[in-house]
Amino acid sequence: MSEANSSRFHRLLVTGGAGFIGSCFVRDTLARRDGTTIIVLDKLTYAGNRANLAPAEADPEQAARLRFVVGDIADPAVVSPLTAEVDAVVNFAAESHVDRSILDPDAFLRTDVTGVHVLLEACRAEQERAAGGERAAPPRFLQVSTDEVYGSVETGQSREDDRLEPRSPYSAAKAGGELLARSYFVTYGLDVVVTRGSNTYGPYHHPEKLIPLFITNAIDDQHLPLYGDGLQRRDWLHVADHAGAIGRVLEHGTSGQIYNVAGGNERSNREVVAALLAQLGKPWSLVRQVEDRPGHDRRYAMDSSKLSALGWTNGVRFEDGLAATVDWYRENQDWWRAIKSGEWDAYYRRQYGERLAGSSEAP
Ligand code: NAD
Ligand code: DAU
Repeated sequence: MSEANSSRFHRLLVTGGAGFIGSCFVRDTLARRDGTTIIVLDKLTYAGNRANLAPAEADPEQAARLRFVVGDIADPAVVSPLTAEVDAVVNFAAESHVDRSILDPDAFLRTDVTGVHVLLEACRAEQERAAGGERAAPPRFLQVSTDEVYGSVETGQSREDDRLEPRSPYSAAKAGGELLARSYFVTYGLDVVVTRGSNTYGPYHHPEKLIPLFITNAIDDQHLPLYGDGLQRRDWLHVADHAGAIGRVLEHGTSGQIYNVAGGNERSNREVVAALLAQLGKPWSLVRQVEDRPGHDRRYAMDSSKLSALGWTNGVRFEDGLAATVDWYRENQDWWRAIKSGEWDAYYRRQYGERLAGSSEAP
């Protein structure tokens, strides 16, 4: 059954829509059945996975409103014609893993900075077409950014106008991307909004990240490599809540503004690991204390009252979301076992080989 489309933006270009959060946004938007059409542009890097869109592609009504284009956001020849077809661009595409940014920063600059620039230029060209009467309105551009741009926050909560102090190649590149986006609002009057989300978890999360890595390793009784003392703190946000917040900012955010998206679930890594092991019925003895991540941010925390004022509330309790996530990984082993093969072995050896060899049992 279709619902009335109350959205301001009926045709979306969703970049990085085959990744973890982008695919959730695409699935949830199409599942509204309100006529919204989506073009996904995704390079299908190691992190992109068409299977993440399988639920939408298996539904004929949703599949008819979804077009998938394999391509690079840093390629203007691909980006320009797609941007001409849509009312808004939602940019999830990024290299997203801090550890990989420490091993190989180059791709982070190309996608997270140059890629954003190419998307912005395409939107600016569409703005000019709108001014010339060739299209009804210029596109809105939503840049999906991260709490990591604030750097490590020892106490208190970051607010949107706090100083940016990114400390890893990943977070520095993300800061570059969102600053460019904001500069296009200030300089060219482009309709730009930015979200800064906190640590996200849930189904379809690539197993390189803490929660899915530790769940899948524990299912296989493999060691869990905990960095340093494991007392670093993150604020966990369920992927459906993150995607919902992005939808709300897209619809209701004020042009030129930035919105924090907090989870409201601050936990130490040790607490998270203990909770997921308890859920799986696996022992703490699987956890190994390994050499820390260089430049490891100790804590992230944000105030998201600005987003709350747009009517957004966080729906998933962390304990419920984690339990459901553990169940999802138990029930979808084909999905993650396919990812934990091929390129994965070389990455795992490079990232964890020496660390695990020199590790000790975590206290
Ligand atoms: P992800 O790594 O799971 O997905 C990224 C997607 O982008 C993949 O599908 C990949 O193929 C695609 N991609 C990469 N480079 C591309 C390029 N040059 N052109 C086109 N597509 C490309 O990432 P995620 O965890 O879903 O994160 C999505 C966005 O949200 C990112 O911008 C990230 O910085 C941001 N973010 C993530 C979190 C988190 O905890 N995961 C939190 C806050 C913000
Ligand atoms: O805060 C938002 C960010 O959250 C996003 O912008 C990033 O895209 C996303 O990857 C995530 O970054 P983190 O570095 O916080 O996530 P990660 O899952 O890699 O690590 C979470 C914490 O767990 C961090 O303190 C490092 C630690 N960790 C991680 C891994 C992969 C370990 O102790 N061992 C590990 O093997």
